[in-house]
Order: sequence, then structure tokens, then C-alpha cells
Amino acid sequence: MPSQFPHGFVWGAATAAYQIEGAVHADGRTPSIWDTFSHTPGKVLGGDTGDVADDHYHHWRQDIRLMSGLGLGAYRFSVSWPRVQPTGRGRASRAGLDFYRRLVDELLAHGIQPVLTLYHWDLPQELEDAGGWPERETAHRFADYARLVAEALGDRVPEWATLNEPWCSAFLGYAAGVHAPGRTDEAGALRAAHHLNLAHGLGAQALRATLPRGARVAVVLNPNAVRARSTSAEDADARRRIDALSNRIFTGPMLHGAYPDDLLADTAGITDWSFVRDGDTHTIRQPLDWLGINYYTPSVVSAATGEPPSAGPTAYPGAQGVAFHQPPGKQTAMGWTVDPSGLYDLLMRFCNEVPGLPLAITENGAAYEDRPDIQGAVHDPERVNYLHAHLQTLLRALADGADVWGYFAWSLLDNFEWAYGYSKRFGLVYVDYATLERTPKTSARWYREVIRSGQLATGVPRFS
Ligand code: FCB
Repeated sequence: MPSQFPHGFVWGAATAAYQIEGAVHADGRTPSIWDTFSHTPGKVLGGDTGDVADDHYHHWRQDIRLMSGLGLGAYRFSVSWPRVQPTGRGRASRAGLDFYRRLVDELLAHGIQPVLTLYHWDLPQELEDAGGWPERETAHRFADYARLVAEALGDRVPEWATLNEPWCSAFLGYAAGVHAPGRTDEAGALRAAHHLNLAHGLGAQALRATLPRGARVAVVLNPNAVRARSTSAEDADARRRIDALSNRIFTGPMLHGAYPDDLLADTAGITDWSFVRDGDTHTIRQPLDWLGINYYTPSVVSAATGEPPSAGPTAYPGAQGVAFHQPPGKQTAMGWTVDPSGLYDLLMRFCNEVPGLPLAITENGAAYEDRPDIQGAVHDPERVNYLHAHLQTLLRALADGADVWGYFAWSLLDNFEWAYGYSKRFGLVYVDYATLERTPKTSARWYREVIRSGQLATGVPRFS
């Protein structure tokens, strides 16, 4: 097994605006759905909000120094829509855009490539009040926003992604209700999925029309590595349904220009899909320069014979009768099983499904209960093992022909982990939320060494 990554392989770390920036009232920023949701009692663990988060809005220089210390070649961040276009409509906010101009210039000055995501879940609240993602108009608003950001930053940002994990936006936000805006409306969630797809298509068109030649346009998905619990026909069908509802609902139109027939059939009792207009799937299928894959853990499903139906709203409208099972193996603090083979399966799947489309691992990482020791050092051997195992699997996929140009650890910093608030730490760098002090963990030093050498030490990782 090779231990050397290809020459020019890009090493990065990722964050998202609402999870790190804080400064929610600065320079004319207006609330997003995550401000509203996190301020609604009972929605986020411990009543945590992103009001301060890592206060990256004021600590960005220091954070770039941390990145530089790690030797990062790239940094994936997202732009806060309500910071740069406060009402979600009309003119851009110069102050909001200036923050990202400064950030990007400083990254470039440190030789770190900016990789920009336009939408990592922070819809301006005004657009949600007008109907949110279930409404077609939101996709058009997104395309306008994409154009504004491209006009402002197109001269200095080479890599652009439209959406981050539209599955979470649509199904955690509008079906399960565990993410903002917290609605539980199955038909609305399917409409949201379509309008997110349309937003991607219209947004990608707006980017192409605005960006200089050579800028690359992508989308970031969280494809579900879903497995059947057994080889029975019933379990295989359960797998097919979840694959349709988590993967092919996006990859169908984005990569192949059509919604899968089985998805339409499975959801026929919920909606007739009449919100899909002629030409939409053509618009959604835009040429992509790469596809971003976020991976944490696989899923195992079966037909739910004899098992009680899940209580309350689920994230899978149209998948009644499917049971989810904890995959075997050790778990992270999120309760997610550590199993890098799901990453291998996904990389090989896309490499076969869309030959010639380069891939990037745009998020991968793990939460553990990190605590500073008496000297203030943070030792996180489990995270080192997690990352090591996934990078080893990535090497295997590369050797088997997967075309992957980069890897982005989630996350640079401990941050606001959505409905879990600050209780889950994913950072390579520890953040003391009382003082905002940043302390690189052992995993940061381990990652720095991987980046420096372009190699994965074989056997047991050095820092475990
Ligand atoms: C992904 C999100 C990211 C982070 C990780 C743990 O689904 O894109 O913001 O919360 O999970």
C-alpha cells in the first residue's frame, strides 16, 4: 500500500460562517434562519447560539496564522449571505464583502488557496419569511447573491462551491425539523430539495457568467454511504429507497439531468412533483469542475418488519418501513461509527458514475471530548486515529483510480455544531469559549507533519 500522496495534492481545513464568525449584528448583518432557530428555546442544546461562536469575525488574522502554522495549502470557508446581502435581495453590503476581501487577501498573502462555499445553511430570515426553500423564488434570490459575491471576489478566489449539503438544508431543516428553520412538512421538504437543486443550477450559471476564466465551479454534497443490513430483497429495497432520498435526489438532476423514477414513485403519496417545471432539470445539470464529498460515517438500513415505526417526523419522507441501525464499530462523541470503508465506496462510486469529474473530500473529521490537561495541552489521539484511518483509505482509493485533488479536515477550529451547540468539538484547534483562546491539539501537529511530508506514516500513528 503506497503511503505517499500525489505531488500537488491539496491539504486543507474547512469551516462555515455561522459556526465560527459570531459578530451577528456587526456591519449591518441581519438574522439568518440559524439566528432565529438558535434563539428559539429548546432548539439547540444548552440554548447555545452563534452570537459569539469563535468570534472569527474579529480573530481572522490570528486564525490565518494558525492555518499557516499548520502548513495548509487551502482553506474552505463559507460566506454568510445575510452579512453580504442583508435582506437577501437587492444591493450588496460593502462592509460585509470587505470582511471577505480582507480574509481572502490575507489567505493569498500566506499562500493559502481560498475555497469558497456560497451557502452553508444561513438563509436570510427575510427569505424564510417569504416561504424559504420550498418556494421557487428563493432559488432566484440565490442566483443573484451568487453573482454579487462573484463580482466582488471573483478576481481572487479560484474555487467556488454553490451549496453545502443540500440534503441537510432540505430534510433536516424542513422534514425532521432539527435544523433551521425547524419545519416538519414532508411535501415542503421535497419542494425545498428541488429548489435547492435549482438554486445550484442557477447559481452555477451566474458564477460562470461572472467569474474570470479558470475559476472552478463545484457543489458540495454529503452522499450517504448506505448499506443493506442483509442480502434479502426487502433490505435491498430499503437501501434503494434511502439511496434515492439522500443521494440520487441531488445527483440525479445535478449530474444526469433527471430525477430518478423510483424516487418519484416512492414519494407519490406526498407530492406530485408538479413544482418541477419544464427545463428545470436541464438548468440544474450544469457542467462541474469538481464535486465535493463530505464524509463522516456510513448508514445501515433494513426493511422495518416488526420494528416500531419511528416516532415523530423523520428526515426521509417516503421511506416509511425503513429501519436504521447503528453500524458496528467504535463511535465518536456524535455517536457516529468510525468506518472509513464508506468513504472508499463513495469515491469509487462517483469515479464510476461520472468518469472524468475530479473529486475533493471537502469535510471529514470527528468530535471527541477534548479537554486541556494541567499544562493546557490538548491530546486527542482518537481524532488522530480517525483522520489517519480515513487518509489511509483515501490512499487506497487513489491507488484504485479515484481522481481526488484535495482533502479538507473538518474542522480548523472547535465551533458551533448546529443543534448540538458547543457540546461537540471537531477542531484541530481547541477553542476555550470563555476566553476565545486557541490551542492547537495533538491532531493539528500530526496533520502538519502529514502535510509537510505528503506521507502517511504506516502502522500506528505517531501521536496516538
Ligand atoms: C456537516 C456540516 C458541517 C459540520 C459537520 C460535522 O454535516 O456540513 O457544518 O457540522 O457536519
